[in-house]
Amino acid sequence: MTAAANVSFLSQRLSSRDATVGVLGLGYVGLPLAISFAEVGYQVVGFDVSDAVVATLNSGSSHIDDVTPSRVGPLVANNSFRATAVVHDLSTCDVVFICVPTPFDKAKTPDLSFVESATRSVAKVLRKGMLVVLQSTTYPGTTTEFVRPILEETGLRAGADFHLAFSPERVDPGNTRWNVRNTPKVVGGLTPTCTELAKTLLLSLMDDPTLVRTVESPDVAEMAKLLENTYRAVNIALVNELAQLCNEMGIDVWSVIDAAATKPFGFQAFYPGIGPGGHCIPVDPFYLAWKAREYDFQTRFIELAADINDQMAAYAIARMQDMLNERSISLRGASILCLGAAFKRGVSDVRNSRAIHVMELLRDRGARVTYCDPHVPHVRLGGDTLQSLSIDDVAKVNADLVAVLVGGEWPLASLESRGIAVFDAVNAGGAPGAHRHRL
Ligand SMILES: NC(=O)c1ccc[n+]([C@@H]2O[C@H](COP(=O)([O-])OP(=O)(O)OC[C@H]3O[C@@H](n4cnc5c(N)ncnc54)[C@H](O)[C@@H]3O)[C@@H](O)[C@H]2O)c1
Repeated sequence: MTAAANVSFLSQRLSSRDATVGVLGLGYVGLPLAISFAEVGYQVVGFDVSDAVVATLNSGSSHIDDVTPSRVGPLVANNSFRATAVVHDLSTCDVVFICVPTPFDKAKTPDLSFVESATRSVAKVLRKGMLVVLQSTTYPGTTTEFVRPILEETGLRAGADFHLAFSPERVDPGNTRWNVRNTPKVVGGLTPTCTELAKTLLLSLMDDPTLVRTVESPDVAEMAKLLENTYRAVNIALVNELAQLCNEMGIDVWSVIDAAATKPFGFQAFYPGIGPGGHCIPVDPFYLAWKAREYDFQTRFIELAADINDQMAAYAIARMQDMLNERSISLRGASILCLGAAFKRGVSDVRNSRAIHVMELLRDRGARVTYCDPHVPHVRLGGDTLQSLSIDDVAKVNADLVAVLVGGEWPLASLESRGIAVFDAVNAGGAPGAHRHRL
């Protein structure tokens, strides 16, 4: 088939939903995407290196909070979705998405080993006319400088024999308002044809054709994602710094933000806390900082924001210590119940959880730590495993201090009525009371 015939063949298969879609990496990003494609009529093959993930999904169950077994089960039963750990099962795919982790190492250097391994898997099944879309968050240049050469080791040429694009994921775990179907997508391909093919496919998930924004290159799409996440990291750092100043000045930072947020233009509210956790905000800006060094460029905002955000755990503990001092209780030996363990409200994901970091710091300082998080049944703290208390236990607890580290439906009123000191790091309880202080 000629190159033009290949494009038209794939385009038709995408439009008619006869195409088979492969998704490599069936986690928080890959699974919702895979299931959404199966739900709109594509054949979907999900590939993951974890046998446990593959077995869970093929049994019709799910390991991701936002994808219920009631969505997976019928798709497995009617063969529109199946998971596999065998690379060659992807050989029937017309399109593959790469949705594998992009962490950093201890020196905050990007770890592209998962992307490399997934790309090498794709190379084993790559054929003429295939579309490859990278979705993992990464530094500008990854698609063209890192993924492309690996795929071209096959002898096939990107943009001629096969199509290549980057389209960042914007999934927000736990968010019931915004999902794969209604969140706008950005996509940049190696050539205009690559971009158009990826756009056609992504639009098939959406009702509104304006929801896919094409950009001129994968680099622009990669940088756009890093701008989004760096913007959050920097603005969170700004309010975290402001929260510390406001405390010194006796001004309520939460009232300040609410007041500023009445401005209908030019301001977006961000809120202080113990620092952003998870797989994205504390990690992604460092992908950019690392890449910038190649250009002898220092990304000062990124470093400063990370510095301020990282200090918030210690700052929160200092504030707890002040509250204990008022009651003549030392932190060493104090019993402290922490509310929340996940990296944010309503999810079970504990990657880079700042709440767990606070628990570790409290323990290091000699406090006796317990916790409650209905989404996280146990956490590892040092060499120990702690079991979550139930919400009923929380209401009855007799701790020296309760620290609200993550938002949630916590029984704060019953704690306050019993005179228990509460440090509320996330404004879960509204205006402070006699025994409850806010960050
Ligand atoms: N979680 C989020 O909210 C979010 C949002 C936007 C973007 N992202 C980005 O999406 C990417 C994936 O993140 P995630 O949260 O879905 O990760 P995850 O850890 O939830 O899932 C990744 C999956 O990939 C599998 N995997 C690892 N190596 C593989 C390989 N070589 N081949 C096939 N499968 C492999 C793992 O077993 C795991 O199931 C990351 O780059 C992340 O930064 C995540």
